Amino acid sequence: MKIGVSGKGGVGKTTTSATLARIFAARGYDVLAIDGDPNPNMALSLGFSPDVANAMQPMPRRAFAKDAEKTFSADEILGTYSVQGPQNIALVLGAKIEHAASG
Ligand SMILES: Nc1ncnc2c1ncn2[C@@H]1O[C@H](COP(=O)(O)OP(=O)(O)OP(=O)(O)O)[C@@H](O)[C@H]1O
Ligand SMILES: [Mg+2]
Repeated sequence: MKIGVSGKGGVGKTTTSATLARIFAARGYDVLAIDGDPNPNMALSLGFSPDVANAMQPMPRRAFAKDAEKTFSADEILGTYSVQGPQNIALVLGAKIEHAASG
């Protein structure tokens, strides 16, 4: 089963997605959560520690490019980029904007 959640800004997409993930995980499903927001914060809604959430790296764009020299299997990508969180929910990031340092 695949569930996509989209909508305008601030309407509760992340909260709803994380709640659905937790409900299905609690019912015994293997859940893979994909945060497609370039400013991802679903990890915190899923209960990941801030340190783990901040250290997460997004899946590389070249993994999906049609003209990429090498293609990657889902297992290869998930093995490298997914992180296991509370309730055994796996999370991957589709993108991540690196913020400029302060000062
Ligand atoms: N059902 C709800 N009732 C009340 N407040 C809610 C509900 N769902 C989410 N919120 C609150 O609304 C705010 C926005 O929620 P959330 O971050 O999930 O939205 P979003 O659509 O992912 O936002 P963004 O577009 O910025 O990514 C948060 O402060 C969240 O706690
Ligand atoms: Mg959001």
